[in-house]
Amino acid sequence: LSTPTIAYDIIGDIAIIKPIPGFQANVTEGAGKIVAVNRHVRTVLRQTTPVSGEFRTRTLEWILGEKKTETVHREHGCQFKVDVAKVYFSPRLLYERIRVARKVAPDETVINMFAGAGCFSIIIAKHSQASKVFSIDINPEATRYMFENVCLNKVAGRVSTILGDSKAIIELHLRARADRVLMPLPTRAIAYMDAAIASLKPKLGNIHIYDFVHAKKGENPLQKTLDKIASRLSQFELSVIRRDARIVRTIGPNWYQTVVDLTLEMASGTKLCGAEKQPS
Ligand SMILES: C[S@@+](CC[C@H](N)C(=O)[O-])C[C@H]1O[C@@H](n2cnc3c(N)ncnc32)[C@H](O)[C@@H]1O
Repeated sequence: LSTPTIAYDIIGDIAIIKPIPGFQANVTEGAGKIVAVNRHVRTVLRQTTPVSGEFRTRTLEWILGEKKTETVHREHGCQFKVDVAKVYFSPRLLYERIRVARKVAPDETVINMFAGAGCFSIIIAKHSQASKVFSIDINPEATRYMFENVCLNKVAGRVSTILGDSKAIIELHLRARADRVLMPLPTRAIAYMDAAIASLKPKLGNIHIYDFVHAKKGENPLQKTLDKIASRLSQFELSVIRRDARIVRTIGPNWYQTVVDLTLEMASGTKLCGAEKQPS
């Protein structure tokens, strides 16, 4: 697309225009160009609010084509049915989802604490030999699509769809069950680390923590995320065996999404959840 003032994502056969702040764009003209270049696109919507709220959804306005917000997106050999107005979905996490799936060892139990329509969970089930993926989301619309996607991708025996607050679900049902925990909710993941740690089996466990971070020129976004996580981890009786960090994507000027992969070893005798240090 020649005009530099329009950015867009394509989810299935729906294009979503995100005008760049500070630039005036002719959205209708831009929509026509998107359809001309991407022949499979049937609908063009414009995002009118940022992704926000507990469910991480956004407001969308119809611009061109069929009036609909539901579509089926294909990624890594899987199909994901999703209503882009009711459930979070980003095609920009394409590499991140397969990157994490490739780390999963045979027979692992995985917990996805913020699973949306089930993309990470289903890609893990399809591309690894994980024995079980517990896939949790608090948005009833997300879990409705997740369940449909689990069936669509024929992973029903290995991916369990769970509706609720992941911290409460772990406290009640999933303590000390996981080899690996995914926390793909950058706005709240660090706050939920106590639940993630509680869900890990005793001894070694892996956590993938996502974060949003501002970093001005000269500041290192990865170091800023690592510092936040180190401060949170200092509240627990455990050792960090391995720690890798990467920038997932740039989401605005000086504004990044990051991920930290942690391998943790629990101090012997501490039974997780109760692993949080008591104030002295
Ligand atoms: C960024 S989206 C997840 C995206 C998803 N992993 C994917 O790849 O498409 C974050 C999700 O966390 C869910 N969420 C927010 N707070 C939650 C909580 N306390 N417990 C469980 N899910 C929660 C939201 O409904 C939303 O679907």
